[in-house]
Amino acid sequence: MSQPTIESILQEQRLFQPPADFSQAAHVKSLEQYEQLYAKAEADPAAFWAELAEQELDWFEKWDQVLDWQPPFAKWFVGGKMNITYNCLDRHLKTWRRNKAALIWEGEPGDSRTYTYAQLHREVCQTANVLKDLGVTKGDRVGIYMPMVPEAAIAMLACARIGAPHTVIFGGFSAEALKDRLKDAEAKLVITADGGFRKDKTISLKPAVDKALENNSVPSVENVLVVQRTKEDVTMQAGRDHWWHDLQPKASGDCPPEPMDSEDMLFILYTSGTTGKPKGVVHTTAGYNLYTHVTLKWAFDLQDTDVYWCTADVGWITGHSYIVYGPLSNGATSLMYEGVPRPSNPGCFWDVVEKYGVNIFYTAPTAIRAFIKLGDQHPNSRDLSSLRLLGSVGEPINPEAWMWYHKVIGGERCPIVDTWWQTETGGFMITPLPGATPTKPGSATRPFPGILADVVDLEGNPVADGEGGYLIVKHPWPSMMRTVYGNDERFRKTYWEHIPPKDGNYIYFAGDGVRRDADGYFWIMGRVDDVINVSGHRLGTMEIESALVSHPAVAEAAVVGRKDDLKGEDVFAFVMLEGTHSASDDLKAELKQHVVGEIGAIARPGEIQFADALPKTRSGKIIRRFLRNLASGEELVGDASTMEDQSVLDKLRSGN
Ligand code: PRX
Repeated sequence: MSQPTIESILQEQRLFQPPADFSQAAHVKSLEQYEQLYAKAEADPAAFWAELAEQELDWFEKWDQVLDWQPPFAKWFVGGKMNITYNCLDRHLKTWRRNKAALIWEGEPGDSRTYTYAQLHREVCQTANVLKDLGVTKGDRVGIYMPMVPEAAIAMLACARIGAPHTVIFGGFSAEALKDRLKDAEAKLVITADGGFRKDKTISLKPAVDKALENNSVPSVENVLVVQRTKEDVTMQAGRDHWWHDLQPKASGDCPPEPMDSEDMLFILYTSGTTGKPKGVVHTTAGYNLYTHVTLKWAFDLQDTDVYWCTADVGWITGHSYIVYGPLSNGATSLMYEGVPRPSNPGCFWDVVEKYGVNIFYTAPTAIRAFIKLGDQHPNSRDLSSLRLLGSVGEPINPEAWMWYHKVIGGERCPIVDTWWQTETGGFMITPLPGATPTKPGSATRPFPGILADVVDLEGNPVADGEGGYLIVKHPWPSMMRTVYGNDERFRKTYWEHIPPKDGNYIYFAGDGVRRDADGYFWIMGRVDDVINVSGHRLGTMEIESALVSHPAVAEAAVVGRKDDLKGEDVFAFVMLEGTHSASDDLKAELKQHVVGEIGAIARPGEIQFADALPKTRSGKIIRRFLRNLASGEELVGDASTMEDQSVLDKLRSGN
């Protein structure tokens, strides 16, 4: 891990009070109430969560023990039995919500579908029965590689219904990346589609699945279930591949929820880390259900009358927690949109807001910056008066983007809820409660009740307010990841021993730099490890370097992040070639495409610089700090005396 100097230059003074009428109707109505909740949770976290678990969720059997903490392994609601789909579906059927819209879906070409809770329940049960018929049983892992269609959410819920952990692989990942993840999870079945619509074109998915599985390279996979979306030609392998529309409509709509242990695995979601191999982040059932439920309810002040839209893809944690499980557990109406703003339709998001009267809108800073570029005329020509709350996630939101979001989209009336969290945390960790917390543009404000967040140095010593340090959490919370799939050691080392435990007290290391101000507000300063945040998506530098080195022309590669106005960060790669190959623009283009093939379009380097040598320490470690400076065209910061050959930097600066 690199150790950049942590310093914060942001000094934002503006303060926005929650609107009085908003506070009055909100679940949490005042700063005092937030502080009381926080103090109560801090005094006895287990009792705090137990009370909410009783109040907010339905259980088949109550737990014996709220928290079993054997650092760094936590178990919540030990001995309890439940099924998250019961909380997301069945329990609502007994109320007026039976016929309420659970899922509203808008396709990119303009087609749309709405599922009531009763309809969604039936679809999920039918799909669950298809999975059973194809031999999937409790504990088997199922890969999901889908476009943003309702069947993606239905597939996830169907897995959860029968206790088969899902692993959703973002549809933008390549066949190679898909294969690695399916292999690691030893998936028994894959659910996919022929393709999906993106930016007025179709993207193919089934061929990537075929490629990932060719030559029996993932022997665990027995069957592939294929949704027809684009109707493009696909090859169906007899005995292995089955059309969803052949099997699912005929299946019974009766499928009782599998009684799951609180700690049974709900899903695995892969995320980039500092080493080459992505980590399978494991989440379990009850704690995850509770935490996503409560955080969404309080931080987004979810009300029964709301139409709520999260623009993430279900392939990321945001889609899992806040398109599917959190909203449905609350009995909310969750909107799912297949499209993205594109030159042919720059106002499409605002059309969706107007068409469905969206009340709560949750997106990422990178999207907000793209909207600013597209021009105010698009939102200004639509009726956005239904909006009452705006959310942000994925990276620190720059104050200019925050102010634009507040004024142009929120009409200066909607609280902005900037949520800091991670794949590993399962749900929001640092976030305003909109009726309670005054907001400051660029700050995720204060920790959610029950989250004992703090700022420390690398030895775990507290850091004074105003100074930069490392963001940590001092007590387990219900939806924290339980382990790295199949690798407890990696889990322990990455998150719990990076900052050494003191007196047996383990603390969770998030990997982010942060500053806390005198009001107790957290200002996230970005990753402190070798992870790049491109458009709110985490990419490991090692992963991209491995992809580059797998090309025959490449001898060595070093990848760093470079500030980008739109994406937050962009991938900048320094590449040393094998002796027989020579530098050319064609080769640059070929290498960029190679990374797309190995990982996916999100990892495509924005720029490649060929180099004769890379800056290294005497022990052979690449000094990324200097490469970051070079990539951004900055002065070199720091001491170069540990370098083996100082002339390397001059050469790189002169462009080779
Ligand atoms: O660096 C932080 C940044 O995104 C990382 C987590 O990425 P991922 O696991 O892909 O999850 C993204 C969606 C939850 C964090 O370590 N990050 C996320 N949200 C924010 C943020 N940085 C600043 N402010 C945020 N609101």
